[in-house]
Amino acid sequence: MGKHLNLPPGLVTLADHGEHARRSLDARTWAYFEGGAADGITLHANRAAWEAIRLRPRVLADLSGFDPRTALLGRAMAAPVLVAPMAHQGLAHPDAERGTALAAAALGVGLVLATQSGTPLEEVARASLPDPDRGPLWFQLYWLGNRAWVRELADRAQRAGYEAIVLTVDAPVQGVRDAERRSGFTLPAGMESPHVPPVARGAKLAALVQQAATWDEVAWLASESTLPVLLKGITHPADAALALEAGAAGIIVSNHGGRVLDTLPATATVLPEIVAAVDGRVPVLVDGGIRRGTDVVKALALGADAVLVGRPVLHGLANAGAAGVAHVLRLLLDEFMAAMALCGKRRVADLRDAGLVEAPSRP
Ligand code: FNR
Repeated sequence: MGKHLNLPPGLVTLADHGEHARRSLDARTWAYFEGGAADGITLHANRAAWEAIRLRPRVLADLSGFDPRTALLGRAMAAPVLVAPMAHQGLAHPDAERGTALAAAALGVGLVLATQSGTPLEEVARASLPDPDRGPLWFQLYWLGNRAWVRELADRAQRAGYEAIVLTVDAPVQGVRDAERRSGFTLPAGMESPHVPPVARGAKLAALVQQAATWDEVAWLASESTLPVLLKGITHPADAALALEAGAAGIIVSNHGGRVLDTLPATATVLPEIVAAVDGRVPVLVDGGIRRGTDVVKALALGADAVLVGRPVLHGLANAGAAGVAHVLRLLLDEFMAAMALCGKRRVADLRDAGLVEAPSRP
């Protein structure tokens, strides 16, 4: 655990954390964390799209009663931010998923734990649930090939105190991850997830496509589960409409951080179409390339209810364990509050304002 409080001075942005992590992590681990699928076109488009959006605030708004808090599915949170589900966090630091959960709870932001967590979901829940000011605690599910396994894992998450299921629907098979393969990355022995049944580990494409989920499975899970089920990995408005029909309680607009199908559009550019299709019936969240408080403001202006942040959390974890994650989240929340105030908005709900952003174009 000797890496605690190893933060050098001068880390003031999420990008600074990324640069420090890149220099300190093993090159293969870095390739796994950072890599996009194939040519990285979607990976880079995500960032480019947020950057290309210009803010058009009005000045001299009344900021009294300024409040960055919001709520999702009935649970309050300090700001419209959650930690995205990310596998194998023990690669970054021994604090692993527990460190991430502790930091997220301390900062009052939400946490989505990945199926492929190396830490049992009950232990992660114990790091989060005791904090009265924590944000939402959700569990990400992959379709594990059959209903019995999925039901068992969803029930287990519910028993442990998770408040929603996030079914990831954009990765029935692995993406083509060139950087990872070039680097020679393999999971260290003993890092398999305790949540993945042995028979589902290391399955090959030919087997995975046979057992991939369809809308029937989504409808089944939504009706079986007493927890709300959100779908993660929606990029087409027609799929958002089908998700609502199947009983989804929320939509996460995501291209998996550019890690699965390369040349998918940037999430910022498809968000408005999906917000229009959902028409306020369920929450819409977005991730991919959120690195600045202004990105959060832009996502909300385009109609998202909250954002998820991925890789920067792993960078903070690698740099200083739970304290590093807390630092990353603190930086993002401080930037968000500054951007919100500078945009003349006192409440998170007021950020839903198409006039605040110039329409994004597809990079
Ligand atoms: C991920 N992501 C992911 N998503 C998911 O649903 N289940 C998973 O197990 C993982 N694992 C995972 C590992 C690593 C190393 C990364 C970087 C990402 C995708 C993640 O939830 C999220 O969609 C993106 O990371 C968001 O993009 P940014 O913020 O990383 O640009």
